[in-house]
Amino acid sequence: METYIEANRAANGHHAGTSFACEDVTKQDFGTERYDHVFSNWLFMYLDDAETAKVFARIFDSLKPGGTFFMRESCFRQSGNKKRSFNPTKYRSDELYESLIEAASRGGFTIEQRAASETYIQIKNNENQLMWLFRKNLDATNAAAAAPPAPTSLTPAASLVDTSRVYVKNDEYGGAGCFASVDMAEGVEVERGIVRVLTNCDGNENPYVFTWSDELPNTTWALGSGCSTFYNTTEEGSANTHMIRDFANKSFSIVATRDLKAHDELLHVYKSKKWRTCFKVLNEGEAGQKA
Ligand SMILES: C[S@@+](CC[C@H](N)C(=O)[O-])C[C@H]1O[C@@H](n2cnc3c(N)ncnc32)[C@H](O)[C@@H]1O
Repeated sequence: METYIEANRAANGHHAGTSFACEDVTKQDFGTERYDHVFSNWLFMYLDDAETAKVFARIFDSLKPGGTFFMRESCFRQSGNKKRSFNPTKYRSDELYESLIEAASRGGFTIEQRAASETYIQIKNNENQLMWLFRKNLDATNAAAAAPPAPTSLTPAASLVDTSRVYVKNDEYGGAGCFASVDMAEGVEVERGIVRVLTNCDGNENPYVFTWSDELPNTTWALGSGCSTFYNTTEEGSANTHMIRDFANKSFSIVATRDLKAHDELLHVYKSKKWRTCFKVLNEGEAGQKA
């Protein structure tokens, strides 16, 4: 990596105000209101959701009011067709990226442009190389300084577990599901909680535990606090929530990926839905509906 940095320095070091660094982006401090523009390419697909949310918030804070942020990512699927035995890349949907950035900036970014790369469409017939230009709103409050969302219950902000915006009742499938207790805007934290990693548990058999790694096959399973067990799943594109897992801190945040009305059922796409034995029946149900 250092060799590339040196070559870049040799080619571009003469530009005023230029500095070069090779650092872990999740640990970098970008400062506050320093930059007019931030550019990133093929970065967030290599970070988990918790890291992505953190870096989005830092980029947002580092921009001057009215500043812009460009990013380009492979969405939905791999950009090439090379077979890989291990591929930890996250091919997120455009909806999910937009919800994560909405939540991280507390609605402080406006999407100025959204497009698929013409080059990839023409040469690779791939419409999933997506690019965004976000502009920081002039009146935005920086994420680090922003007050937490207005409480809707007596749950103190310091609580590791907050289920105050959710309730659980019988669902239409004969079990229990999670529902919004209040109206919530896209990006709002619906529920937060903690997990405990389980021993002697196989989540391929047990549908009530969480996949607690990005590895495949996954062998780490966890028990989630609060109402988290009771969220039902749905198809890509129909979800209204997303669970951001912070593996290291054994915690999660479930955020609204669209505006919610009180009593809407809260649905997210299970991370393990496609491969977990106990969810096979759910995929078959969907295939039947489409047929
Ligand atoms: C994590 S639990 C969710 C809570 C569950 N409904 C309950 O009552 O315990 C996962 C299980 O919920 C059910 N479930 C989740 N999403 C569903 C869906 N879209 N349609 C039918 N059943 C679903 C399936 O039985 C699945 O194995």
